[in-house]
Amino acid sequence: MVKGYKPYNHNQIYLFPPAPQDWLPKNHIVFFISDLVDNLDLTSIEKEYEKDSRGQPPFHPALMTKILFYAYCRGVYSSRKIAAALYEEVAFVVLAGGNRPDFRTINEFRRRHIKSLPGIFVQILKLCEKAGLVGLKHVSLDGTKINANASKHKAMSYGRMKTEEQRLEKELKSIISVISISDALKNKTDKYLNQKEFMLHSYMVGAASKKIAKDMGFQNNGEAFIAGFLHDIGISIVHRYLHSNFAIIYDLMETQKLSFRDAEIEVNGMTHEEIGSFLLEKWNFPAEICDAVLNHHNPGKAQTSPSMAAIVSVADYMTQSLKVGELKLDKDNHLDEYTLGKFNFEKELDAEKFATKYKDLFWEQLEFVRFLN
Ligand SMILES: [Fe+2]
Ligand SMILES: [Fe+2]
Repeated sequence: MVKGYKPYNHNQIYLFPPAPQDWLPKNHIVFFISDLVDNLDLTSIEKEYEKDSRGQPPFHPALMTKILFYAYCRGVYSSRKIAAALYEEVAFVVLAGGNRPDFRTINEFRRRHIKSLPGIFVQILKLCEKAGLVGLKHVSLDGTKINANASKHKAMSYGRMKTEEQRLEKELKSIISVISISDALKNKTDKYLNQKEFMLHSYMVGAASKKIAKDMGFQNNGEAFIAGFLHDIGISIVHRYLHSNFAIIYDLMETQKLSFRDAEIEVNGMTHEEIGSFLLEKWNFPAEICDAVLNHHNPGKAQTSPSMAAIVSVADYMTQSLKVGELKLDKDNHLDEYTLGKFNFEKELDAEKFATKYKDLFWEQLEFVRFLN
């Protein structure tokens, strides 16, 4: 016979209001993150608000920084999912002190502070690592983990360790920026640009660039991912912020049969490569990434990182030839002389053969695109 159950009433009314903090174990990481951020210097964010005198007061920068950092630790990047967690997950409720900024506010916050946030996150991460706590180590954009333990390698000299640390910091900064940018720039799909197609294209070019860079023995294949992921960001920016221009470009392509490139130059006076790299420079992305983005359609002209530009160009070309994640708008890409030489291709047909070697990678990567949605 059942001896009875412990009392259970999901509509329990409390005599004293409960403290959500008590529902988490005392050593939960959110308490650590909270203390850390409270002691950080957030003036770079705060000074942005000094100019605002109208409207509702904003949410506290410490609160916003905490929930974003914790969300990234958990692999949650989408602003809608973060906003939902503020209702559904105790750890988020505790961190936010019961405040619930909506997804637009979260998005606006990271867009506004895109320059300061990565540096602040790297600071928090370093302190977490020092304390032996999980940080952003497992943050990954393509299913492969960042090698955050490299600096602990036994046989590494002090100098090498420092360089490794700097490399990791650089990579993390860029990844955090990529996460923020990809969510902040999400726009509604319309007849001019399909957002899913665009994200898939960005992601595929990023993943393929990383793999090619690795196969070619490049140390900075993390940067190749980012350059690949962001190569067409100029297109997304025009679609979002210069939408009427985008409509005219589209119209010129339809009615005058202009290529995307000719149409964008006619309407915007500049290419999507120029717009993209201009913004990435403003957002403090490493020069190699900005240069590769600027020259992804003509790597031979790159000043700082022609090899990375050539890798992105080949990866972009591969999406077309394999027909996985290709961007219909920016199609008909050709490889320039420099890229053909760099890869020892005699003609583009060799590039097509080369692409088939990466066919499996493309299909495998399709699975990881989930995080973008
Ligand atoms: Fe492009
Ligand atoms: Fe592209």
